[in-house]
Amino acid sequence: MEFHVYENAQKACEAAAILIAAQITSKSDCILGLATGSTPLPVYEKLVEWYKNGVLDFSDVRSFNLDEYIGIDHKNPLSYHAFMQENLFDHVNIVPENTHVPDGDMTGEEYDASIRAAGGIDIQLLGIGKNGHIGFNEPADAFTYGTHVTDLTQSTIDANSRFFESIDDVPRQAISMGIGSIMEARRVILVATGKDKAEAVYKMMKEPVTPHVPASVLQLHPDCIILVDEAAASLMK
Ligand code: GLP
Repeated sequence: MEFHVYENAQKACEAAAILIAAQITSKSDCILGLATGSTPLPVYEKLVEWYKNGVLDFSDVRSFNLDEYIGIDHKNPLSYHAFMQENLFDHVNIVPENTHVPDGDMTGEEYDASIRAAGGIDIQLLGIGKNGHIGFNEPADAFTYGTHVTDLTQSTIDANSRFFESIDDVPRQAISMGIGSIMEARRVILVATGKDKAEAVYKMMKEPVTPHVPASVLQLHPDCIILVDEAAASLMK
């Protein structure tokens, strides 16, 4: 794993955006694996800025998102479908039919088959949960290979409750690419910012690979780049 520390979140996210932009520039019909959450917002802002400046062209790009809540309508502003529209898809020239976000109406096998049929993910963007989850692959006794429906842990429900009116409104289930689906991406970039993520970053990097810290599996990925700010790197010293 490559590990890079930036002085702040904005710079870590800009570095991630540069890697994605480089991918699009070198392969215009590339397949992006995209993530939601607060962390990647500045990544998407940069990509939109570069598109508006005429530097980036999304017309042949295809995308597959990591995950989505179960039981939330796509039009609900808190759905990951709506997040992607609002923060990226509505602002660039990506073809709507070329964007894919999983949902409870499809099986995980169908989603994985469509990723494979498209040629596989060239570059997968990831955030990380405070408990070390990636996508919605929560800590467990074993890794889950393919896209699947999963129960959210209390730690994730608590963390994501900040977006909802009350904790009771947070969905209890999600559909998520599995660890296998993520590990098949040709390149993975994980962005972690803020001191809340310092423990997860430390465990991902320094502890033995374990499904109890799902992100630790990235130690085995042949092309994985971790981009963090100083706060998220604070336990690494
Ligand atoms: C959610 C998402 C993850 C994301 C994580 C961290 O649970 N499913 O893909 O990485 O939260 O989110 P944030 O970046 O808002 O801290």
